Amino acid sequence: MKYIDLLHDAKTKLKNSSINTAEIDSELLLSKSLNLNREDILLNLNSIASQNQIKIFFNKINKRLNKEPIAYILGKKDFWKTNFTITKNVLIPRPETEIIVEQALKLIPIFSQKNILDIGTGSGCIIISILLERKKCIGTAIDISKEAIKLAKYNAKMQHVGNRLDFKNLNIDNFFSKKYDLIVSNPPYVKNYLIKYLLEDVKNFEPYLALDGGLNGCKVIEKVIRRSSELLKRNGNLILEIDPHQIYETKRIMKNNNFHKINIIKDLSGNYRCIIARKN
Ligand SMILES: C[S@@+](CC[C@H](N)C(=O)[O-])C[C@H]1O[C@@H](n2cnc3c(N)ncnc32)[C@H](O)[C@@H]1O
Repeated sequence: MKYIDLLHDAKTKLKNSSINTAEIDSELLLSKSLNLNREDILLNLNSIASQNQIKIFFNKINKRLNKEPIAYILGKKDFWKTNFTITKNVLIPRPETEIIVEQALKLIPIFSQKNILDIGTGSGCIIISILLERKKCIGTAIDISKEAIKLAKYNAKMQHVGNRLDFKNLNIDNFFSKKYDLIVSNPPYVKNYLIKYLLEDVKNFEPYLALDGGLNGCKVIEKVIRRSSELLKRNGNLILEIDPHQIYETKRIMKNNNFHKINIIKDLSGNYRCIIARKN
């Protein structure tokens, strides 16, 4: 079968299943199946794929028809300036989380030697992106998920920052250490009874541990703020990603835990997404 026919069949199937990224998904999955880049496929649409390649391709298309996110099928996701390896054990890095990286870089002068903690590191996308931009900084990445820590370690090694990062497979409640200059975190913040209403791609595939924010969505946020108040140096900063509806509750928890100078940043859709505070 020619590439052009494979793409046409796949696009039609995905469109019929109301997948509105049918075109790009088909191209990316064909490129992964043939181990060619997307441009090479589009420039050689009359080339013929082997039976085995066709089988591999439609196997991936079937996964997508089953609403598996494209990042899990590809095993990759771009975040900030890096392409991260992703598995189903970690949340897929989101563009809005790049705000944490952006804000962290504003707080860290280029040649300063800061010690940074990432709570709930997942794939490691936040802390690795910061360390890649700030060569003198070191950090610790912690996650309750053993599989997440394994993947974050792999990503750190691939990006050559493994020697500046320490990894802890722990619940943040059980982490005790020396103090940090900066803490970053994108904690799970979905109210647990709302998880069943999330998009199928999310609720059926992303790790529950990465989504579950307890009954009010703030269970882990509260832990992170309370522990950050103990783990930060005086005048150290905490940068958190939150759901826009959690802004007032998060501010209240921060004030009760010795934080001040609270600053709220909106995402590109104009929603409150990121909150920064300084420890008294
Ligand atoms: C929303 S995901 C964020 C992952 C990654 N930082 C990102 O932004 O893509 C939250 C992460 O926090 C971890 N986590 C949840 N509760 C935790 C806890 N009590 N202590 C440490 N990590 C926790 C989850 O396993 C998950 O990897």
